[in-house]
Amino acid sequence: MQRDGAVAVIVVDNPPVNALKHEVRAGMLEHFTKAAADNSVEAIVLTGAGRTFMAGADITEFGKPMKPPGLAEVIAAIEKIHKPTIAAVHGTPLGGGLEVTLGCHFRVAAPGTRLGLPEIKLGIIPGAGGTQLLPRLVGVEKGLAMILSGDPIPAKDALAAGLVDEIIEGDLVKGAVAFAKKVIAEKRPLRHVRDLDDKIAPFRAHPDKFNEAAANVSKKSRGLEAPLAAIEAVRAAVTLPVDDGLKRERELFMKLVVGEQSKAQRYIFFAEREAAKIPDMPSGLKPREVARAVVIGAGTMGGGISMSFANAGIPVTVVETNEEALKRGFDTIQKNYQISVQRGALKQEEADRRFALLTGTTSMDAVKDADIVIEAVFEEMEIKKQVFGALDKLAKPNAVLATNTSYLNVDQIAQTTKRPKEVLGTHFFSPANVMKLLEIVRGKETAPDVLATAMAVGRKIGKVPVVVGVCHGFVGNRMLSPRQNQAERLLLEGALPRDVDAAAVEFGFPMGPFAMSDLAGIDVGWRIRKALGTRNEIADQLADKGRYGQKTGRGFYIYEKGSRSPIPDPEVEEIIVAASKRLGIARRVIDKQEIVERLIFPMINEGAKILDEGIAYRASDIDVIWVYGYGWPVWRGGPMYYADHLGLAYVRDQLAKYAKVSGNKSLEPSPLLTRLAAENGSFASFGAKKSAA
Ligand SMILES: NC(=O)c1ccc[n+]([C@@H]2O[C@H](COP(=O)([O-])OP(=O)(O)OC[C@H]3O[C@@H](n4cnc5c(N)ncnc54)[C@H](O)[C@@H]3O)[C@@H](O)[C@H]2O)c1
Repeated sequence: MQRDGAVAVIVVDNPPVNALKHEVRAGMLEHFTKAAADNSVEAIVLTGAGRTFMAGADITEFGKPMKPPGLAEVIAAIEKIHKPTIAAVHGTPLGGGLEVTLGCHFRVAAPGTRLGLPEIKLGIIPGAGGTQLLPRLVGVEKGLAMILSGDPIPAKDALAAGLVDEIIEGDLVKGAVAFAKKVIAEKRPLRHVRDLDDKIAPFRAHPDKFNEAAANVSKKSRGLEAPLAAIEAVRAAVTLPVDDGLKRERELFMKLVVGEQSKAQRYIFFAEREAAKIPDMPSGLKPREVARAVVIGAGTMGGGISMSFANAGIPVTVVETNEEALKRGFDTIQKNYQISVQRGALKQEEADRRFALLTGTTSMDAVKDADIVIEAVFEEMEIKKQVFGALDKLAKPNAVLATNTSYLNVDQIAQTTKRPKEVLGTHFFSPANVMKLLEIVRGKETAPDVLATAMAVGRKIGKVPVVVGVCHGFVGNRMLSPRQNQAERLLLEGALPRDVDAAAVEFGFPMGPFAMSDLAGIDVGWRIRKALGTRNEIADQLADKGRYGQKTGRGFYIYEKGSRSPIPDPEVEEIIVAASKRLGIARRVIDKQEIVERLIFPMINEGAKILDEGIAYRASDIDVIWVYGYGWPVWRGGPMYYADHLGLAYVRDQLAKYAKVSGNKSLEPSPLLTRLAAENGSFASFGAKKSAA
């Protein structure tokens, strides 16, 4: 605690982000109490040292008994103070950090501050008054939106919403002290947020609004408990006296914080951070500077990848084979930005600024200026080799050369250059401007600083990069393949597309495997199989008939014009039943549990092989890939976590059973799964051992 005249300034100093651990809570309580009792203190400013005001709770304390004082107790003590209390925030006042400010009379912020309640992202809700106080300050709609999205808002918006009272240019503490002195001089009325009512009162007569919100959220949140609890808590803010509301919030919070969902979400939170660590990197390695990117190909992926760079403020040149393809690519990019503007997600000036960072050309010479080149041309080895041959001739000596291939061998591509050390894979996911996952494919010869550069660039453009090794399909697509095989196999044994998809959706995926095939286009795999001279039983028959999925209005399902809702089709059923008959497979009723396990356990089995081969460094990397790239329900923590949770012996036994029932050898448990199950081990411990080694 410092003094500036009659103003006491309490500074929280717990690097790096002033997390609200026990000592911080106790320190705040002590100093607020002291300042309140000191008659020479006329106002109290609370601020944080270093790069941010308190950025939230100490997550490692979650789920354990909390050492008193709890945060709610500290805030209640601040609320009892009868002299002006002012929170002066900068950086990212988040979660508990923001809740503390809601206990103060006033909030002032440095420009550039981002304020929010991100608890929902960890499967919980704010537990120290956030759900009760924020709506009183900013209104129910805004408050609920902030709590449900978990995304922080910039200081400017916070000022407009009433969350902060003033934005302070220049020295924050000095400005806050001046603000405090003004409050004292003007004898401004002191009202605590808990006593405000005007912004929530209008909702009291409309409890149906909360039912509507709940119905919307249930549709979107695919089994998550926290969003519904958040709505319940805000409803309590409106319908109950404040102390009862706080009690209700506490009950909802406590239930979530000890629950399985939040545990899984916290696991993924740490798994994402763990994925940033590459075990054998020399320490002190610096990524290379990346100021300019070139993307080769303006197709589906090239366009999205270019947008990701432009969105992060990195100028990017897109190279195409001809003007027509270039125009098509740029039209799509512009349309995408326009849609964001229309939806209100992006301001027109911002869209224009981003679009202006994109340049198109048909000359490969553009590559000369690039610090990183990302190739996203057709998935054909010969074309990739041509492109990399040209890159080798034109690119700067220290440019990172990356391929977006989905399946091709990155080492082979690297070998077509004289600088395989500079080559790696950057496997984006579609739509590349939206999807967070980025598989970074480390080649045999990829230099450590090239890898580090790709990781750093990935993070800079808002992705979650995960390092994987070279193999067919890398981690994600390689694990997807046995799932698709089993999905089709289930059709032959007695299920229908809608049964399989419904089971997958009930498990928590955004869509089932057949709806996904229809969305991606059944013809994609069909063409690949044709080229390879292989065939699959059902999908290829559909493609033969021109049923490519959504784009032709028919696939595994029927789609009415302009609609994306799948309607079951008797013709497809006939094709399936006939295929079973032709193959001599007796159709049977397959229950939901078997469907889910036959979709998911083969993926886990493949994940075990991937771990065993060292294609992924750790099981948690595989989980991050599935959560961020393939819609695995985050509250189930990823496939490997899920397997550990079920017990590996169970997964092993079920796989062995299904291998027998379906006569499908590929379902037999892998050596690593068998070994870990016998040892009563887990994928998590296997990964940990490897990282430690
Ligand atoms: N579509 C997906 O969902 C997806 C996802 C991940 C990775 N990938 C991979 O990304 C790559 C691109 O896929 P896509 O779906 O964007 O394909 P696409 O067919 O939509 O686009 C490819 C583009 O590359 C251009 N092109 C071809 N040869 C070129 C050359 N020599 N120089 C410059 N441009 C050239 C084509 O004109 C075309 O516009 C492939 O390797 C694919 O496997 C695709």
